[in-house]
Amino acid sequence: MLRHVTAVRYATPLREGGSLPGLMEGDDLGTWVVKFSGAGQGPKALVAEVIVGELARELGLPMPELVLIDVDPELGRTEPDQEVQDLLRASAGLNLGMDYLPGSITYDPLAFDVTPETAARVLWLDALTLNVDRSWRNPNLLVWGGRLWLIDHGAALYPHHDWASAAATVGRVLPGVADHVVLPVVAAEPATFAAADAALAPRIDAELLTAVLARVPDAWLDVPRADYVGWLLERVAARPSWRDAVTAALAEARPVAEMAPGARAAAAIARRRVGAGSGGAGGSGAGRSGRPDWLRAGDWLRTGGTAAPDNRDA
Ligand SMILES: Nc1ncnc2c1ncn2[C@@H]1O[C@H](COP(=O)(O)OP(=O)(O)O)[C@@H](O)[C@H]1O
Ligand SMILES: [Mg+2]
Repeated sequence: MLRHVTAVRYATPLREGGSLPGLMEGDDLGTWVVKFSGAGQGPKALVAEVIVGELARELGLPMPELVLIDVDPELGRTEPDQEVQDLLRASAGLNLGMDYLPGSITYDPLAFDVTPETAARVLWLDALTLNVDRSWRNPNLLVWGGRLWLIDHGAALYPHHDWASAAATVGRVLPGVADHVVLPVVAAEPATFAAADAALAPRIDAELLTAVLARVPDAWLDVPRADYVGWLLERVAARPSWRDAVTAALAEARPVAEMAPGARAAAAIARRRVGAGSGGAGGSGAGRSGRPDWLRAGDWLRTGGTAAPDNRDA
């Protein structure tokens, strides 16, 4: 179970991200990055945060503590920003808090050394959970206390926004895998990805997933917890179809040691210009719209599913 705390003060909005998380103080004297249940993507983003964050923790990846945090909208009364006031009003009650890592910096593969083994585990988790939000443009990895920390899993598990077609996604390749922030690190030792797969896949069983799902509050769920457990178990079972595409993307990626500052941006522009991507079936390159799939998946999330991405599996 996640700990319960009560927010006692709204400190400031965190504006780097898209969902306008807020920094709040808890009655436990902790400082929490709060993801609000009333934010545009709705409580499902919080469900994904809990499931993927806690799965990461269970698999031994460094995750700041997550708590359920009670928010009284009155705490935003003195906040001058109308958007923040509206968000707090829409989020009365339970929200998600993540332990704030003071002084942390955004991870950059050229500036901070992470072992290929750790990077491979992050890549594998994201491929399993369809986390489309860990690109070099937006790493959602922090460096703090001399090590790497995972944050922001709200965009993962995106098929849960449309359960009717979720069954068709159990073999889907991670959209945008060619742009994954740790791809060049893993590409330096591609065998580490196969090792991560061999080590982690057997650990993801019904017992572990049931324990992780138990940490999601009822109020945020619109399907039985077993639906999430079933979907993830099917993804593990179907993993050759998404894992092998990641392996192919690794073979095409430029290892981090060969990269000069600016090289990533230039490589991405060139990739877009030729309209080709790596990653194979499921599509990670620019599609008919000329935008990478992972961006279109993001649009789909932001519009609540009205802008259907073209990368649905047939
Ligand atoms: N636990 C944390 N400690 C320190 N900074 C954080 C933490 N979580 C998020 N941040 C900062 O806030 C930004 C937005 O948070 P994030 O979880 O990525 O939200 P969004 O869904 O809006 O992208 C991050 O890019 C990071 O700079
Ligand atoms: Mg983010």
